[in-house]
Amino acid sequence: MQNLNGKVAFITGGASGIGLAMARAFGAEGMAVMLADIEGEALERAVEDLRSRQIRAEGVVADVGLRDSIKAAADEAIAKFGKVHLVCNNAGVAAGGVVGTVAERDWDWVVDVNLMGVVHGVEIFTPLMESHGEGGHFVNTASIAGMLSPPGLEPYSASKFAVVAMSEGWAVQLAGRGIGVSILCPGFVKTRIHESRRNRPDAYGHADAEVGADGMSAAVLGGIDVEPVAARAVEGVKADELYIFTHPEFKAPIAARFERILAAFDSAAGSQALHGLGDRALPSVDLGATPAPS
Ligand code: NAI
Repeated sequence: MQNLNGKVAFITGGASGIGLAMARAFGAEGMAVMLADIEGEALERAVEDLRSRQIRAEGVVADVGLRDSIKAAADEAIAKFGKVHLVCNNAGVAAGGVVGTVAERDWDWVVDVNLMGVVHGVEIFTPLMESHGEGGHFVNTASIAGMLSPPGLEPYSASKFAVVAMSEGWAVQLAGRGIGVSILCPGFVKTRIHESRRNRPDAYGHADAEVGADGMSAAVLGGIDVEPVAARAVEGVKADELYIFTHPEFKAPIAARFERILAAFDSAAGSQALHGLGDRALPSVDLGATPAPS
């Protein structure tokens, strides 16, 4: 989506951190912005901040983990602005811990927000974007933790790997329907993600101390600022990039992971257990990333 001026963005988790930075950056491109966030007071401040920058902005309190809540927020965005062209499914929370000790409710919370929150955004807004015929774009916030799995962050990484996987499939499905998909994959960024528990709904029961907060706080606070991340998101939407990276230093560990995976295929190719199956062709289904036949 090259021309953003005069169009409308809907941004979840838009009251702070990367979401608010994207609201400012897309607003500076001439977009009107609807922020959806679970944190009411921060949301009010964020809307004021955007308006002080001459950005048309509205806010709606919503919980991305609840489909009806996002449906109501989408209705509110349509009521205020008429259409939505860009949806940033950005709200996210972090939890993890030592294997064998992670609370089931923490798994539920992280999966509901980080994974189902993105599902709700895409399922609800796809038909709305298609109906106005002006094209659209999704920016789904994953993470470098959608490409690598740091020990102790499994609920978070699982949800972010899922965001990458789902977005890769949606990108193929939606390409022919005038809707682009980008996956935002930052490394550490200076936000309040290490204090996610401030927004853990009571429905998930008593919140223990921040899980993994010690290690994570230092890394998050030592991360890059939100502004370049938001600027990359704008670049990525304009150029219709599938993967939007912001931390080039992670290329080496991600390449090392892919090399380990490819090496495992070499082991399979030489395996006695598979000997006798012969050369098998790929099944004739769309694998999304299937290379063109040479
Ligand atoms: P943040 O904590 O500053 O902002 C997250 C926002 O999401 C907050 O405004 C919060 O109120 C909102 N939120 C939380 N639960 C919600 C829910 N159920 N419904 C609606 N809104 C909810 O953190 P940050 O870093 O700005 O997080 C934004 C996204 O960036 C998340 O998806 C996070 O996983 C991702 N990310 C962050 C990185 C970092 O180092 N800060 C690195 C990679 C990805």
